[in-house]
Amino acid sequence: MRFIQTKDYESLSKTAADILAAQVLLKPHCVLGLATGSSPEGLYQNLIEQYHQGKLDFSTVHTVNLDEYVGLPADHDQSYAYFMQDKLFSHINIPAQNTFLPNGLSDDIAAEGIRYDNLISKLGGIDMQLLGIGANGHIGFNEPDTHFPCGTHLVTLTEKTRQDNSRFFESIDLVPTHAVTMGIGTIMGAKRILLIASGENKAQIVKDAFFGPVTPQVPASILQLHPDVTIIADEKACTLL
Ligand code: GLP
Repeated sequence: MRFIQTKDYESLSKTAADILAAQVLLKPHCVLGLATGSSPEGLYQNLIEQYHQGKLDFSTVHTVNLDEYVGLPADHDQSYAYFMQDKLFSHINIPAQNTFLPNGLSDDIAAEGIRYDNLISKLGGIDMQLLGIGANGHIGFNEPDTHFPCGTHLVTLTEKTRQDNSRFFESIDLVPTHAVTMGIGTIMGAKRILLIASGENKAQIVKDAFFGPVTPQVPASILQLHPDVTIIADEKACTLL
């Protein structure tokens, strides 16, 4: 595990963008696993700038997103499909048919999970998976549990996660109760993992997940066992280390 501490959110975003950009430069046909949430917004902005400066070409890149809410259509402004269009895809030259998210509108999420994991395999697996981290240690939407779930699957969101994410909705009642997420096995299957954590509200979980025991009660802690993981955290997220 490589642990990089940066001064602030801006330098975190720049460092993380440079690592993702290096992946695209080294392997133009790569598969990037992408994440949503507020943490990667600066990183995506940075990638867009590098694209406009002519430093990056996404025309042969494929992307697979970690997760999606159940029940929100792609044109709902809080769906993760909408987020990805708005924050990244519509600003770069990635072909629409190269971008994938789990389908939260499927009426058979179990079958959707199998389809999504098969799709990732057919693409050749994930070269680099980007992750944020929930305040309770969730990655994707893998919530604290008694075991580490393997493949892409349906989850019931915890009250903590719904509360945390309610800042994006008009009220907590509008936050979906379920999501479909890559499993821990899907994430651990990525060749490289890049996790970013920013701000004081992530300080406790950064300590627990990366400097505490590996346990499904802290889903991100499993990353300690991945052979190629880079954690980038800003000073505020490192205050308890
Ligand atoms: C959501 C997403 C996660 C993300 C987490 C943290 O629940 N499903 O992928 O890592 O929120 O979000 P933020 O970066 O806004 O703190």
